[in-house]
Amino acid sequence: MTPLAQKFPRTQTELKVLFAASEAAPLVKVGGLGDVAGSLPHALKNLSAKHLDAIDIRVVIPFYNILRKKYPSPQKIAQFTIPHVDGLLSATAYQMKLDRLIYYLIDGDPIHNTSGVYGTDPALDGEKFVFFSQALLEMARQIKWIPDILHANDWHTAASIYAMHTSRRFTADFFHTKSVLTIHNLPFMGAEAEKALEDYYLTKCKKPNLPDWSCKQPLPLGIFTADHIVTVSPTYAQEIMTPEFGCGLEDFIALKKENVSGVLNGLDIRSWDPLTDQSITSQYSWGSLDLRKINKLALLKEFDLKPDTDLPLIIIISRLFHQKGIDLAISALRKVVNYPWQAIILGTGEPKFEKACIKLQKDYPERVRSAIRFDLALSRRMYGGADMLLMPSRYEPCGLSQMIAMQYGCIPVARATGGLKDTIKDDPEPGNQNTGFLFEKANAKELTNALRRALKAYNKKTLWRSMQINGMNQDFSWTRSALQYASIYQHLRRDTP
Ligand code: GLC
Repeated sequence: MTPLAQKFPRTQTELKVLFAASEAAPLVKVGGLGDVAGSLPHALKNLSAKHLDAIDIRVVIPFYNILRKKYPSPQKIAQFTIPHVDGLLSATAYQMKLDRLIYYLIDGDPIHNTSGVYGTDPALDGEKFVFFSQALLEMARQIKWIPDILHANDWHTAASIYAMHTSRRFTADFFHTKSVLTIHNLPFMGAEAEKALEDYYLTKCKKPNLPDWSCKQPLPLGIFTADHIVTVSPTYAQEIMTPEFGCGLEDFIALKKENVSGVLNGLDIRSWDPLTDQSITSQYSWGSLDLRKINKLALLKEFDLKPDTDLPLIIIISRLFHQKGIDLAISALRKVVNYPWQAIILGTGEPKFEKACIKLQKDYPERVRSAIRFDLALSRRMYGGADMLLMPSRYEPCGLSQMIAMQYGCIPVARATGGLKDTIKDDPEPGNQNTGFLFEKANAKELTNALRRALKAYNKKTLWRSMQINGMNQDFSWTRSALQYASIYQHLRRDTP
């Protein structure tokens, strides 16, 4: 045993996990990360303790202003300071319990001085999340709850891993703590957090062969120091080791490949179930798929489209960004106008893509509708009534919409990348269990071909029905993912000195 290990002996068998994220549903949710942080900790907590050590997982997020309004009086558990180049910054930690799970909320000037979860000033966001990353470690120390595993997510909390493993303030107390970093979206590395890293004394790493730029951003620093890296699908784990998806870090990630795994996200199947979904006109299951027609008709009427349920109804439900291949989807739709179909697009995003969607409706007023807004209830009515979901993402670490679509019997047409490739089956062999249509390269030509295949298949009623049923019967539950995370945690703990 090393002297440090003697000083801090590990005694408990319960596995303590501190799960750090910038958002966690139902407290605060902006995107897919919020869904994951809302579901995975519960799934881990609920795992049977039969074959595993019990997992005491607690979630820590910033106490944003919007949360202060929603939860005005959580229990204060600690008050401490964080060293900053301008002096000591004060931080407060609160605790609350929701649905049997403990949440820690961290407050301090860098957090409540900004509005929203992610603000419009990236430098202020850098400051906010670097502060938060250090404060969450300090909180754990102050309340004497040193976790066995620190599980951080994306760039916002990646600096906590770096600080824990390299900052002299933390290394002794966290000597036994192992770190897991889940990457939900590699290109977002915290590029504007360089000054904040310096101001909080998280000086540049001195690793040979690392590109200089990467030592000034939280996500690469987390990647270089984490004991284990997880991406949100197995295919994305492979992809980030290639130049197309690796954002310049592919070689460094490849060096750590023994410690990189892909764990597919789950879906909150209690919330996304067409048999209980109250947002749709007619609830159904795989055994009563004919009832979907009622939903389709209602949707067509709602959008003043031709009330003909035999016409395939194509939908796009997406943030309208380059990543999502919205431009490819629009070009492909224009190329298949010789086929009969109708389409509804729902989403908001970059103005140029919003405009392109509106233009498509203008050009084809008899068959296209573009709803430029965020509307959860409408998205449910669309999944519950439409026939195909277009999802031509240029990259997709996991993706949620394709899983929801399949659970609702709406067939995805998607690019074979990341989680899309791992969740959708499109196999040319007969007797397959196909669930959708995939294409390889991110271009309009390949998407158009896939869309044509889908439009032709739509007329083969038995084939279509069997694809719907295959999709609806897949197991997207969080339990599957949680078991994989639990095994990663256990392995790491076993390696602990
Ligand atoms: C990011 C990714 C998305 C993934 C989500 C949750 O938003 O772009 O693919 O599903 O994180 O992990």
